[in-house]
Amino acid sequence: MTKIKNICCIGAGYVGGPTMAVIAQKCPGIKVTVVDINAERIQQWQTDDLPIYEPGLLEVVKEARGRNLFFSTDIDKGIREAEMIFMSVNTPTKTYGVGKGRAADLKFVELSARKIAEVSTTDKIVVEKSTLPVRTAQSIKAILSEQTRDVKFQVLSNPEFLAEGTAINDLHAPDRVLIGGDQTPEGLAAIDALTEIYACWVHPEKIIQTRLWSSELSKLAANAFLAQRISSINSISALCEITGADVDEVAYAIGTDTRIGPKFLKASVGFGGSCFQKDILNLVYLCEYFGLPEVAAYWEQVVVMNDYQKRRFAQNIIQELFNTVSGKKICLLGWAFKKDTNDTRESAAIYVTDHLLNDLAQVSVYDPQVPTRAMYADMNYLQTRSAAENEQLLDVHKDPYEAAKGAHAIAVITEWDEFRTYDWQRIYDNMEKPAFLFDGRNLLDHKMLREIGFRVKAIGKGEE
Ligand code: NAD
Ligand code: UGA
Repeated sequence: MTKIKNICCIGAGYVGGPTMAVIAQKCPGIKVTVVDINAERIQQWQTDDLPIYEPGLLEVVKEARGRNLFFSTDIDKGIREAEMIFMSVNTPTKTYGVGKGRAADLKFVELSARKIAEVSTTDKIVVEKSTLPVRTAQSIKAILSEQTRDVKFQVLSNPEFLAEGTAINDLHAPDRVLIGGDQTPEGLAAIDALTEIYACWVHPEKIIQTRLWSSELSKLAANAFLAQRISSINSISALCEITGADVDEVAYAIGTDTRIGPKFLKASVGFGGSCFQKDILNLVYLCEYFGLPEVAAYWEQVVVMNDYQKRRFAQNIIQELFNTVSGKKICLLGWAFKKDTNDTRESAAIYVTDHLLNDLAQVSVYDPQVPTRAMYADMNYLQTRSAAENEQLLDVHKDPYEAAKGAHAIAVITEWDEFRTYDWQRIYDNMEKPAFLFDGRNLLDHKMLREIGFRVKAIGKGEE
């Protein structure tokens, strides 16, 4: 079996950075080099001001960096020196051409494969860490087989299941590690080589070995199942609001059935993040491509329901504020797609803001981690209105009390713990009356807020 001494990871993002930092931490005998075309990102990984915010990450990086963990823009050298190469590049939804708006854009994966083929002079195990459509390994193998030197490649699928905000915990104690490969002697040896790395800290029973296609598909299926649970409970939240039921009580009641389980049943303003929507749309595209329209329609409904939930939340705000928010200040608490991350990709905040700005509201935002420029970039990316208009209608504050001052309503978008600890009386005193609070996460103490004087509306909480 190949003994791995040198690993290279292409892509120093939310997955490449933390996963490689943990491998380096747990396997001090292996040199791990993370490479990226983005020089600024690489430079940040070399400082204590890391490019991503993730609890516990800096400690792990500091333990291994300079010892056996390195960040570099020298991609060729990184590839050449490694026996195992992880591809951890982004695979966003295509914004052009065939499959636009649905299929995964595999441009960066293909470029990485071509680079590996171009510069490799020794045999390599190439590991798909990015989330990819089932059978992508076939294309990667085809590209790698075109190189002219006598270099042999094995392609493995090793999807990542970490969630942002809990990445280090998830990596230290994963529910499982999935490794798919060819069922040939060389393929099985490659699977074993990667298994040996994870076995440095993961119990062997938690390391699942499968065929290539099963592994690739399991990642898309896992995200689709998780997102489906959120859309299911969100669909019920709409019914709760009309009938007077309480969605948290319903979620608890159904989640105590061990066959259903309690996780991922928290109703919200809608799921965000870089992956759920992208991966489901990719699954939908694959089903259509393979002639399974009914299966495609089934999964697409998860995204349709999520869009409905975000829109419904914004429309509720407008309706409650006497059907007009024009010129009214609405304060959004939270912009990140979930707590404990600075990632805003596909955050519900973006779409709620867009709806409110369409109705000419003045939106003010506070988020403990998201930089101001990221918020404007998110809004400008939508191209609903000009950058100048976004700047005029959207105000970003470094202090939550300032953000809420003079507002007609507050909308809680992200479930940051600190929101619970605020002086809500002080916030109320400085707001326009009647003061509304729309809790998109059911995070706050609604009884206390009502006693202060807030008119509280919460996801999935009907009038009794
Ligand atoms: P990301 O955008 O944060 O990072 C990707 C990095 O790859 C970027 O820094 C980019 O510059 C770099 N890159 C792109 N093309 C390159 C090339 N040719 N050479 C060198 N570097 C290149 O993306 P991410 O969030 O880390 O996601 C990566 C993959 O992992 C995606 O397929 C995603 O679906 C999957 N995934 C993400 C998460 C998550 O929580 N973010 C979890 C599990 C799986
Ligand atoms: C998700 C999966 O949980 C990971 O296993 C997977 O690796 C990852 O996608 C990926 O492939 O990128 P992530 O998006 O980082 O991880 O975060 P989640 O905790 O899954 O939350 C996603 C969204 O759903 C957030 O907006 C969150 O607030 C929302 N959510 C989550 C709910 O609205 N209700 C819930 O009960 C749980």
